[in-house]
Amino acid sequence: MAAAEPLHNIAHLGGVELFTPLPDRSLWYFHDLLGMEVAHTAGPSVYLRGYGDHAASTLKLTAAAKPGVGCVSWRAMSPAALERRARAIEATGLGVGWTNGDFGRGRSYRFHDPDGHLMEIYYEEQKFAAPPELRSTLKNQPQKYTGRGVGVRRTDHLALLAGDVGRNRQFAQELLGFQLREQVIFEGGKNEIGSWMSPTAVHHQLAYVVDVKGGHGRLHHFSLWVDNREDVLRAADILAENGIFIEAGPSKHNNSQGFYLYSYEPGGNRVEIYSGSYLVFAPDWEPVTWNEQERGTGTYWGAALPDSFIQYATPDIEGKETTVAPKLPVFF
Ligand SMILES: [Fe+2]
Repeated sequence: MAAAEPLHNIAHLGGVELFTPLPDRSLWYFHDLLGMEVAHTAGPSVYLRGYGDHAASTLKLTAAAKPGVGCVSWRAMSPAALERRARAIEATGLGVGWTNGDFGRGRSYRFHDPDGHLMEIYYEEQKFAAPPELRSTLKNQPQKYTGRGVGVRRTDHLALLAGDVGRNRQFAQELLGFQLREQVIFEGGKNEIGSWMSPTAVHHQLAYVVDVKGGHGRLHHFSLWVDNREDVLRAADILAENGIFIEAGPSKHNNSQGFYLYSYEPGGNRVEIYSGSYLVFAPDWEPVTWNEQERGTGTYWGAALPDSFIQYATPDIEGKETTVAPKLPVFF
């Protein structure tokens, strides 16, 4: 059977909104420690971007009672692609409707994925225009490299929890046109534990992983890119020096080959500093599937991922299958 014609309607991950019960401390983490820039403030929200992000904003921090993920924004390839996706999603019954667009974006179509995460698609995007003090001498660079803190370049990806990974993976493939890159499937192909997907050559921009506590709409982690593995090691020094809880890494995943460092930002969300990995260009990419034995602990080398990596997500909930519910460290 001939492969379905790729949609090519979604260009890339445009931005992520994180909820935080400690907005000032979360802003300190992303601005002072990770080196992101504040682009805009409105009501309970602060909009940030990495020094290499060309868009006006790629991260929205919003004060809220509990941590977690707000709206996940995807940029369409064109105005017509936006209309096509909106019509297709509307037909599934998962549509929410049109908005005039968040800061730096034009008209946007909002919807929920099958698990209940809020998402939107937009096309029009305001480019970042650096003020004089942030202007780069490099013409193709949106702003100067300030060298503050970790100095994350850009938003890379996010991982969401889902009650039914297969249903959400199928939605992302069929309605958003994402290419499936890797999967973890247990029990002889019956139990889909995780799926990693992307609309770009970047290995994955969206992952769905099973929610072992039976929750819905939760965030596993949000990931920011640095250019090399030494920067990930340096990030570990900076975060440790500032009392930030490092949950795992620096180590290397088997799946995605990513070189990772996971910490909890002060609001409680898990944030990954990420490099390495690999790009995928093939239109006929065959998804790589890992079983129980091959997946192992999820690491290629380095320390095994702790139990909290499976059990903890935001917002934290008392789960049906909880064995260890780690308490957030209180030393930041
Ligand atoms: Fe990740």
